[in-house]
Amino acid sequence: MDKKKFYITTPIYYPSGTWHLGTCYTTVICDAIARFKRKQGYDVFYLTGTDEHGLKIEQKAKEAGVTPKEFVDKKVANLKALWDRLKISYDKFIRTTDGYHEAAVKKIFDKLYEQGDIYKGEYEGYYCVPCETYWTKTQLVDGKCPDCGREVSIAKESCYFFRLSKYQDKLINLLETNEEFLLPKSRRNEMINNFLKPGLSDLAVTRSSFTWGVPVSFDPKHVIYVWIDALVNYITALGYGSEDDSLFKKFWPADIHMMGKEIVRFHSIIWPALLMALNVPLPKKVYGHGWLLMGQDKISKSKGNIVDPVELSDRYSVDAVRYYLLREIPFGQDGAYTTRAFLSRLNADLANDLGNLVKRTVAMVTKYNGGKIEPWSGKKQNTDEEIVALAEGTLAEVSKNMDELHIPEALEAIFRLVQRANKYIDENCPWVLAKDEANKGRLSDVLYVLLECIRIAGVLIEPFLPDTSEKILSVFDGLTAEEKSFDSVTAFGGLKAAAVIERDPIFMRVDIDKEIAEMESKIEKQEEQKPEQAPMAPLPPEITIDDFMKVGLRVGKVLAAEKMEKTDKLLVMKVEVGAEVRTIVSGIAKYYTPEEMVGKQVVVVANLAPHAFRGVVSQGMLLCADDGKGGIVLVSPEKVVASGSEVR
Ligand code: MSP
Repeated sequence: MDKKKFYITTPIYYPSGTWHLGTCYTTVICDAIARFKRKQGYDVFYLTGTDEHGLKIEQKAKEAGVTPKEFVDKKVANLKALWDRLKISYDKFIRTTDGYHEAAVKKIFDKLYEQGDIYKGEYEGYYCVPCETYWTKTQLVDGKCPDCGREVSIAKESCYFFRLSKYQDKLINLLETNEEFLLPKSRRNEMINNFLKPGLSDLAVTRSSFTWGVPVSFDPKHVIYVWIDALVNYITALGYGSEDDSLFKKFWPADIHMMGKEIVRFHSIIWPALLMALNVPLPKKVYGHGWLLMGQDKISKSKGNIVDPVELSDRYSVDAVRYYLLREIPFGQDGAYTTRAFLSRLNADLANDLGNLVKRTVAMVTKYNGGKIEPWSGKKQNTDEEIVALAEGTLAEVSKNMDELHIPEALEAIFRLVQRANKYIDENCPWVLAKDEANKGRLSDVLYVLLECIRIAGVLIEPFLPDTSEKILSVFDGLTAEEKSFDSVTAFGGLKAAAVIERDPIFMRVDIDKEIAEMESKIEKQEEQKPEQAPMAPLPPEITIDDFMKVGLRVGKVLAAEKMEKTDKLLVMKVEVGAEVRTIVSGIAKYYTPEEMVGKQVVVVANLAPHAFRGVVSQGMLLCADDGKGGIVLVSPEKVVASGSEVR
């Protein structure tokens, strides 16, 4: 009989920034699901990849002084190395710069144009020239650009539109009648009430202000909008639109498109509309998980080196990282990362509960039975009945949770068995049984029950923590494939191995306070030694000393600071410059809190023409340096000097 199919996807990643722990969230979750389905016997196709076109990438490449392709090639290599490190078992990695994908995107666009779902029109919007961005009227703040606060002007350009509005009723019907299509439920209500019911406009699906994209085959001045290019990856990866579409026939429709909540709108409105237009069946489920938030404690405030997943894995193991992501954050909701919570999980669950169970049990079998595993008599005494029932039911419990996408609860079910087994040791005191030869049979049974629980937990944990599973199961000498299968864990007594082997501990406990202190000092050192070279942005034309002297740079001291309302970018500060107190608006709110700014000495461009940001007039500008990671750091005098001092 044909195996049942299962197709799961992550979004395709922008290869533009640096990867952090949050980036790994979707991929690790999907990996656990994909591995679980494989173990259940499904024929699984797990897709991930990169979303490589668009203005942002074009600009970043320019800043780095390389071509967009060179830029993305390097980033993609890094990302693949990260996925390998985290044991991500994807079946295919698609890049939107892959030739087969680009060809299929053009074909899809042509088809939609030919059948009238795409038409040529004029895009009219509020354009911010410095930001090169169109805004709608409702997005403007006080009639100005919501990003930089500058004036916008009405601009028009010819472009192609997708008739999204035509699919509005069908989409409402889809979301209202198919409760499984978009989860969690709250996201469905949000889509219906905030986007679908107020009415859909047709979507501009080409751009002509930059070139890094898939050109429209019949009008190559236009490149196809990145989101169209990106969304169709889920079918082009399977060969849709190419000569060999056998994978498409086999695996489509997708069982789950997994993603963070911020991109649910694209997947539950634009994507189904495109598929409806193409007459392709819809995916079965779109799931929008929450975010992993950073910035709760001192370590993450220093902009995150330690929440670099590679560093965390190197220091504490890949599975400690996977476990944290899968277990700690209530699935579907946001969760804040703290190093303390990360280390507490490592100590309590992995080192204490799991690590100790394996270590103690193997040590006892070695000590009392010379490492031999005696077959189980099957006689049940004391709490045997209860632990056996729990062990036999664990797979069903885990499967139910996985089907409902209750990922932390699935792990919890495995750890319930682990904890129960630890308690079983204390209930049965093998060291007491070992004192009396008459108890030999009972002692062997107690040890067998423990070993069987360990085997079952070791088999079940594989989809979540593959290395740990391997380590756990390696304590059994010559375990067969059958004994490692899901099929063998529902009837107690499947363990046939004849002996145990003592191994190194699976996880080591850490001293949490010491670890946090060490990491902090490491980060501080790194901050001190920071970066020697950055790709230099192109210099403006040469100036004379007289030109330079026209810039009035002065030292200032920040007396007060607050966030500007309705923006997460701007701080409004009162800055003492000599005898004056000036109001200065600066786009540093993402990098400095108001509290951090107060008392700081800064360098002010003091003769800059005043400029209004959302009605607040800024009397000067603060000097900052790029930090090479997409952020900025303030320029400050190296020693405290009188405010108002000249900077030359
Ligand atoms: N390129 C688009 C997706 C196109 S799919 C047709 C994109 N890429 S992304 O690189 O920005 O995001 C990739 C995934 O990482 C998304 O699911 C996103 O939600 C997830 N995450 C990035 N940062 C995250 C957290 N801090 N927490 C949880 N997930 C986060 O969007």
